[in-house]
Amino acid sequence: MSNLASTPVFSDMEAAEIAAAFFGISGRVTPLPGERDQNFLVTTKNGRSCVLKIANAAEDRSILEAQHQAMDFLGRHVSFCPKTMPARSGDHLVPVHSEKTGTHLVRLVSYIQGTPMGLVKRRSPGLFMDLGRSLGLMDKALAGFSHPAVHRDFHWDLAHASGVVNQYISHVTDTHLRDLIAQCTREFENTTLALLQTLRKSVIHNDANDYNVLAGGGTDLYSRNQSVTGIIDFGDMVYSHTVCDPAIAAAYAVLDMPDPLQTAAGIIKGYHQVYPLDDTEISVLFSLICMRLCVSACLAAFQHKQRPDDPYLRISQVPIKKMLPILASVDPAFATGVFRFSCGLEPFPKSRPVQAWLAENRHLCFPVMGEPLVQENCTVLDLGLDSPFVSGDPTAPAPDAFARHLSARLKQTGAGYGIGRYKEARLGQASFSKKNPVPKKGITPCVHLCMEVIAPQDAPVYAPFAGRIHSVTKNRAADHQGTALVLEHTPGQDIVFYTIFKGLSSSSIACLSLGETIEKGQAMGAVASLSENGGWPPHVRLQLVTDLMGYGSDFPYACCRDQTGVWTQISLDPNLVFQIPDTCFPIPKPTKQETLAARRRRISDNLSIGYHDPVKIVRGWQQYLFDDTGRQFLDAYNNVPHVGHCHPAVIQAGVKQMKCLNTNTRYLHDAIIVYADKLSATMPEPLEVCFFLNSASEANELAVRLAKAHTGQKDFIVLEGAYHGNTNTLIDMSPYKHGGPGGEGPPDWVHTAPVADVYRGPYKKADPLAGKKYADHVQNIIQNLAADNKKPAGFMAESYPSVGGQIIFPSAYLAGVYDHVRAAGGVCIADEVQTGYGRIGTHFYAFLAQNVVPDIVILGKPIGNGHPIAALVTTKEIAQSFVTGMEFFSTFGGNTVSCAIGQKVLEITLAQNLQENAQKVGTHLLERLHSLKKRYQVIGDVRGSGLFIGMELVRDHNTLEPADQEAAFVVNRMRDKGILMGTDGPLHNVVKIRPPLVITKQDADFIADTMEEIFAQDFA
Ligand SMILES: Cc1ncc(COP(=O)(O)O)c(C=O)c1O
Repeated sequence: MSNLASTPVFSDMEAAEIAAAFFGISGRVTPLPGERDQNFLVTTKNGRSCVLKIANAAEDRSILEAQHQAMDFLGRHVSFCPKTMPARSGDHLVPVHSEKTGTHLVRLVSYIQGTPMGLVKRRSPGLFMDLGRSLGLMDKALAGFSHPAVHRDFHWDLAHASGVVNQYISHVTDTHLRDLIAQCTREFENTTLALLQTLRKSVIHNDANDYNVLAGGGTDLYSRNQSVTGIIDFGDMVYSHTVCDPAIAAAYAVLDMPDPLQTAAGIIKGYHQVYPLDDTEISVLFSLICMRLCVSACLAAFQHKQRPDDPYLRISQVPIKKMLPILASVDPAFATGVFRFSCGLEPFPKSRPVQAWLAENRHLCFPVMGEPLVQENCTVLDLGLDSPFVSGDPTAPAPDAFARHLSARLKQTGAGYGIGRYKEARLGQASFSKKNPVPKKGITPCVHLCMEVIAPQDAPVYAPFAGRIHSVTKNRAADHQGTALVLEHTPGQDIVFYTIFKGLSSSSIACLSLGETIEKGQAMGAVASLSENGGWPPHVRLQLVTDLMGYGSDFPYACCRDQTGVWTQISLDPNLVFQIPDTCFPIPKPTKQETLAARRRRISDNLSIGYHDPVKIVRGWQQYLFDDTGRQFLDAYNNVPHVGHCHPAVIQAGVKQMKCLNTNTRYLHDAIIVYADKLSATMPEPLEVCFFLNSASEANELAVRLAKAHTGQKDFIVLEGAYHGNTNTLIDMSPYKHGGPGGEGPPDWVHTAPVADVYRGPYKKADPLAGKKYADHVQNIIQNLAADNKKPAGFMAESYPSVGGQIIFPSAYLAGVYDHVRAAGGVCIADEVQTGYGRIGTHFYAFLAQNVVPDIVILGKPIGNGHPIAALVTTKEIAQSFVTGMEFFSTFGGNTVSCAIGQKVLEITLAQNLQENAQKVGTHLLERLHSLKKRYQVIGDVRGSGLFIGMELVRDHNTLEPADQEAAFVVNRMRDKGILMGTDGPLHNVVKIRPPLVITKQDADFIADTMEEIFAQDFA
């Protein structure tokens, strides 16, 4: 380690003088980071930048020369390394003397634009891949470079890692950390050291830490700073094992990353693509990664003893202290499997001969259930994410109901055995248990690695092959884990595999003992009872594993979806043993890509698909949605599932009515009356007559007809940015559509008033008369109509515009408008499709918050919780005007099933007091978002009421330039992090939050925390 006393301490001015005197470069000088050297950025008047590097006085000249030659050499092969720049004398190194620190060698190199990777807060998989690729290209080039000075004995050379650790470990005072370092070092000495001797060597950079890697590039928010522009600082160059270079880069890159293995795998994948690693190199990578961190911890501990007052030394070690325990808990064989898989190689090569042996020796296998499982005696069950067999409700007493279902199904098919599939993604208990309802990372183990055979209780279970009892857990009924029996099979040279049996009764395996030999076809145990299986139907679970990786009988029976490729190569398909014919298995469901392609073929492009990475949703429960891989999303987007996705009481109401009768309004039935009674009870007088329809478009269309019939007029006033539905008339009345792409503008009977937006509109929040002033614009329209001898038929507006950008009207606005419209004889139509049913928290309808009573209220989306219902509620008088002799009929509107469902949704909304929940959770979320606004410039406005919330993003607080790309970016990043939301507003720059009303404070915190993370990464 270089002597601290010889570290250069030149001032900026002295550095500027050196640059001018020796290199003929004058300009502004700014210091750059450097630990044992001094670096200065010199920027000339014409904008040229270069770096003046003043070496430690203790630095060996030959090492500096080697660095210089390496950079020169690399300059001919890669574009991302600094280029050397000669001094006026023609030399590359010039000596400069300091009284305090001695003689320093000074050189000048080109400056590379970029941000140190350590300061890039969002580090995507693409960035890590690019780092691997760049490093690979550099090492590939350096393979042709040599210099005697780098053949040195250097403490940062990982080849000597165990020596360095052993020398300095005593300085590590944290005993836990010391134990972990000792554990990693033992592993390194026992397995890695010998392998290292066989590996290729070359000159390597040896220090691609995240301050020596510069990131930059990118033309948009997604790609900004996500590629490598430079690898700098060749001060640690050494001739060593080539594989140390990607290992060192990975060691630093994984720090603070939530998924260190995948991060490292990304670097390794990039490296392997351009400079392939061989099997042995990949096998030592994990150990080298750990050792780099151990060496760093030991050297820092030693330096800390020398410089106890240097806080940097302690701070820099915090991430290592956090990461080492995580890495130490990973089985090196598994890590190697992950790395191999990322390189496109078989993750566990020893699985292949096992697979081949099992395939070739099918005839040697004894049937586990005593008879072959074939079409006649077994039925393959769908227990997947969208299976009707499984409940989405984690609190449902699933096992009993499930068992009944299964036995009924087996009886129905006449099959004796029910088969649970391998590699099936299932709703894990863990995915939304009551204890942990918020998916922090949204990723939980849910892909099954075993197969189940549901069989009669006490059915004997036989050994498929001869083996030895590797482990046996006899009685864990208390924790519902059941028993576990692991057999080790060694049927041929180099062929070892394990069969893990779960679900056998404790009594049936009581006599088995560890190490005991089991004959092929020996009855080892019997299927446990329902009660012994924690209430699940009697079944035996079989897993086929090629490496127990120290897990024994606790070997994971499910894995996270993104690791399926690796886990299924170590936990093989148990059907290699069961041998159930392929014809018994249903055709696999289409993958997301297949669904996407089919959708593009069959469904018009006019129907947009959300998110850059579309989501294939297969199940919903309360405020959660699940994609086809089992990933849980918090739904902060959909206002339709008002009382929560798949509410059992709503489903039951629909099913009950559907079983009995579903017909139209031409017959008398109480369902429509009860529903109309309950609905009108939520409205102020004189709103009492209901029409039921299938969609809000249909309801708004009817409202237009009612207004025309009532007034005899045909002109309507609407608001800027409004959307009211998809029919011809409503597109004409929706500036959001007719004023947007593909729109043809409004017809002459539609008049658009400015929306009362106190953030973006002409009258602002601070103006106490803003409401009146906006309302006056409607009066102007009415006066203009009068000048043409016309009167308005009506005014149609959302009581708080959602599509228009989640806008909260100023007080007195709607009251003013309604007065003007009514004075001119028009009808006031409140579109409460988005805001109705308690969403705004303070009131059940948003018009109540504006102190008005409309003449017609339109309800849609939430009132059916997903079932297509809409309603129009109006006065007797207006309804009567519509009785013109022309009958009104909607085939499905008001049908008995819809009314039963509508009634239940309303009942739940009131009974669960969801309005109050909206108020409580919404207020909390708004507070959190307001606090974000104070910290992030890009947030222009946060507004809302209850769970009707908008966050408007702008690029400039004065011009209010809309940050539409930024809003889309935030929404896409939220989706990546497991939260669904969307953008809205005519300028597409408003992030809208409109979740089902059942979300909790914890969910709200999850939303705010995740947003904060995104803003901190990309907008700080
Ligand atoms: C305010 C408003 N009104 C009416 C509609 C039309 O509803 P539907 O698509 O159910 O016909 C929508 C739909 O987004 C809406 O947001």
